[in-house]
Amino acid sequence: MKLLKIDSSARGSSISRKLTAQFIETWAKHHPGSEVIERDLAVTELPLITDELVAATRTEPSQLTPAQRQIVAISDTLVQELESADVIVIGAPMYNFSISWTLKAWIDQVVRVGRTVIYGAQGPKGQLVGKKVFVLTSRGGAYGPETHYVKFDFQEPYLRHILGFMGLTDVTFIHAENQLRENAGTSFAVAIKEIEKLAA
Ligand SMILES: Cc1cc2nc3c(=O)[nH]c(=O)nc-3n(C[C@H](O)[C@H](O)[C@H](O)COP(=O)(O)O)c2cc1C
Repeated sequence: MKLLKIDSSARGSSISRKLTAQFIETWAKHHPGSEVIERDLAVTELPLITDELVAATRTEPSQLTPAQRQIVAISDTLVQELESADVIVIGAPMYNFSISWTLKAWIDQVVRVGRTVIYGAQGPKGQLVGKKVFVLTSRGGAYGPETHYVKFDFQEPYLRHILGFMGLTDVTFIHAENQLRENAGTSFAVAIKEIEKLAA
């Protein structure tokens, strides 16, 4: 069994990093011998989408020039990490009602037409099937269905859609909300308890 852990917060003292760390700690205890791959997007050089990158991703691998091979190398690595994982844990801070730029840049590298998504007569078909995904978010405020702010949550709906587009449809979200409010500690403790249950 292989688990891929992805962190995307810019902060060292990040709450979402604490959540993913707790998941891994509990997971390792209950799944001895399973392999954990760690991908920290804050220290991964994530290229911008350029004309050259788009052209390289649309070229038959055997026809790539050495320069194009280099351009797609990081995308290939990130896609391979996803393809080889059975379980994927993503730490996602809410930035400006959505996701961090590093997580968006990662998405731009792994949504690969012809690789993670294949278009056929029925339209697009995600190729990353049969995997479990846990998205552990941290947010300054609260965006639950009972709140007035639910309509400003562009984080969970976007991530559900784009992960599903690649075939990742078994996705569980745990939110540590109110992290910039007085009750931050209580919300964090509830999220940690849920994570311990799920990871076990
Ligand atoms: C650039 C930036 C934008 C943010 N935007 C939001 C936001 O739109 N809504 C919100 O509830 N919190 C927002 N926050 C607060 C973070 O979601 C919160 O501090 C969270 O804990 C960040 O995750 P981290 O601790 O893993 O870095 C923002 C924080 C930063 C740094």
